[in-house]
Amino acid sequence: MAEVGFTNVRIAEFAWALMEPAEGKFDFDWLRRAVERLHKHQISVILGTPSAAPPPWLTARYPDIVEVNAQGQRLHPGGRRFTCPTNATYRRLSLAIATEMARSFAQAPGVIGWQIDNELTLGSSPRCYCDFCKAGFQAWLRTKYKSLENLNQILGTVFWSQTYTDFSQIPVPLPSGGDPNPGLALDYDRYQSFANTSVVDDQLGVLRKLCSSHFVTTNNVGLPLDTIDLRSLYEKLDFVSFDNYPGFFEMLIHQGSKSRNLPPETIPTAVGLGHDFARSIKGPKPFLIMEEQVGKAGQSSFSPQPEKGKVRLWTYQAIAHGAMGVNYFRWDTATFGAEEYWHGMLNHDRSKSPAFDEIKQTVKELKALGSELLNSQYPAHTALMFDYDCGWALKIQPGHYALSYVEQVTSWYGAISASRTGIDIVGPVDDLSGYQVVFAPVVYVLSESQADRIKKFVSNGGVFVTNFRLGAKTENSQMVRTPLPGLLREVMGVTVEDYVPIYSGAQGVKFSSVLSGADGECGMWADILAPSTAEVLGTYTAGQNAGRAAVTMNSFGKGKAVYIGADLTGASLSRVLQAFSAVAKVQRPLEVPPGVELTVRRSNAKDWIFLLNHTAEAQTITISKAFTDLVTGERQSEKVQLGAYGVRVLQAS
Ligand code: GAL
Repeated sequence: MAEVGFTNVRIAEFAWALMEPAEGKFDFDWLRRAVERLHKHQISVILGTPSAAPPPWLTARYPDIVEVNAQGQRLHPGGRRFTCPTNATYRRLSLAIATEMARSFAQAPGVIGWQIDNELTLGSSPRCYCDFCKAGFQAWLRTKYKSLENLNQILGTVFWSQTYTDFSQIPVPLPSGGDPNPGLALDYDRYQSFANTSVVDDQLGVLRKLCSSHFVTTNNVGLPLDTIDLRSLYEKLDFVSFDNYPGFFEMLIHQGSKSRNLPPETIPTAVGLGHDFARSIKGPKPFLIMEEQVGKAGQSSFSPQPEKGKVRLWTYQAIAHGAMGVNYFRWDTATFGAEEYWHGMLNHDRSKSPAFDEIKQTVKELKALGSELLNSQYPAHTALMFDYDCGWALKIQPGHYALSYVEQVTSWYGAISASRTGIDIVGPVDDLSGYQVVFAPVVYVLSESQADRIKKFVSNGGVFVTNFRLGAKTENSQMVRTPLPGLLREVMGVTVEDYVPIYSGAQGVKFSSVLSGADGECGMWADILAPSTAEVLGTYTAGQNAGRAAVTMNSFGKGKAVYIGADLTGASLSRVLQAFSAVAKVQRPLEVPPGVELTVRRSNAKDWIFLLNHTAEAQTITISKAFTDLVTGERQSEKVQLGAYGVRVLQAS
């Protein structure tokens, strides 16, 4: 590890059985020896608290710490991440081991920080539905609604005779011969997010008290796993850390679609979104990659060894989007356990793996690039809205069974990021005033304060681009009583006359001269728009809605508000969203060919321009002024060459 140049390692995150072999009996000698050995070689340590993997003595004695899934079945010990976030015994014992660790390592030379638990958003069953959670949910509802009258009224429990006369009668959304009350189901998502966050907060409290000089974080995977509101989860932590497995992710997509042909931009785009989200969660602020794929990756099935240059490229992609450091997963490849096929930097026989030298080189390069770059900011004039409430509410009632919030956000990100301008991922309460354009797909749930913020943003000169289902639901998941788009009708300058899920027959969109181009395809949804003050930029082409408005743009105050009623897909979505970036006058620093990513990091007046070639072919980029490549020291003018999976870090010279 010292030979590679590593500055830190993360260890012990699943080692509960070794650290507490029997209840209340602790053994940290082995861990102390490891920390000391690492410290001797100038390698610092991030310690993981082990609450993601309770040992067999614990589950044998306290079997009800094991979670119950959405079908009402209790999971079983034998894997990991099988615990109930509400269970008081689990929380007490998790806190006890974290406290003993903290006491033992608070002053240990070389220990610099903590990772609480491990990937709380992961697991075969992302939410628990046990009786402890039911009681916890009821208490949470009592705090939220204060009285039963209020709860019954706001959630409309009179429907299907669900009026509650005692908080203890309120169920969790388990199978019940009919769909649950949508407001109650949304509250359950919020409760589970809260319960998981409070498990982290408990441990954080102890670590802050006992280890005040250490940083504290927790690791997660990117956007698609939307089971916990990461903005709340990270609120009190020092920084965000994320795990990144592009090759493994690609395998999962193939597994899901059984397709061999994935559009080439799919993975780099999804990874870029994960990184942009990680940077945006607290701030924006630099984040850490806690685990980066280095080899074949997977448990029962696994992805192949990344091609030469890809691990370096993935490392730079993280830095290019705002990471302050990258840790790799894992060092050894285990010869035992569920992850025998999760390949590390050393092979099973402890020889060097194919990426070993590439990582060594990358570590050297990053050290030479220096800490000013790693801690610099990431300028973005474009924002993409991601709101957990919209995602959860749409999962409860998608309207069209195939409509997915995360897929909408991901395809909008793909469309916008193709224009190579920085994108921040913002939430419903974030300040929008620093952006030129805000893209907000499927704003299904809209609060009054968010509507006010959007109104102010547009009237002050911003461009707000949204699509179907805008403002359909209140924060309590009731339908709004005003014509759609509800609170934003005046800003958008349209009324939604009908909303139409599309199951059969093709629907298309014909664009006006402002958006000129081939007709667009409309996927699974059409909001039929009647403009009051808005200009029509696209009309439907088929069926009874042919000729009616599908895309509109309204001038409101100094800005513009765009309503895309049609679920535009593929090339037309890209073209249309990029046209609105242009309306907002968002500038691109350089033109780059498809497959090449461009990002900028900034500190004071200094810019670092990253060019990342995600293709296996060499690429040429034309530049208008001279740059120095900070990795090779070469001066570049007129043209920059990028080899297969190549990277350039340029600075004006
Ligand atoms: C991560 C997890 C690690 C390890 C790795 C490979 O999701 O945090 O513990 O499991 O994936 O599976």
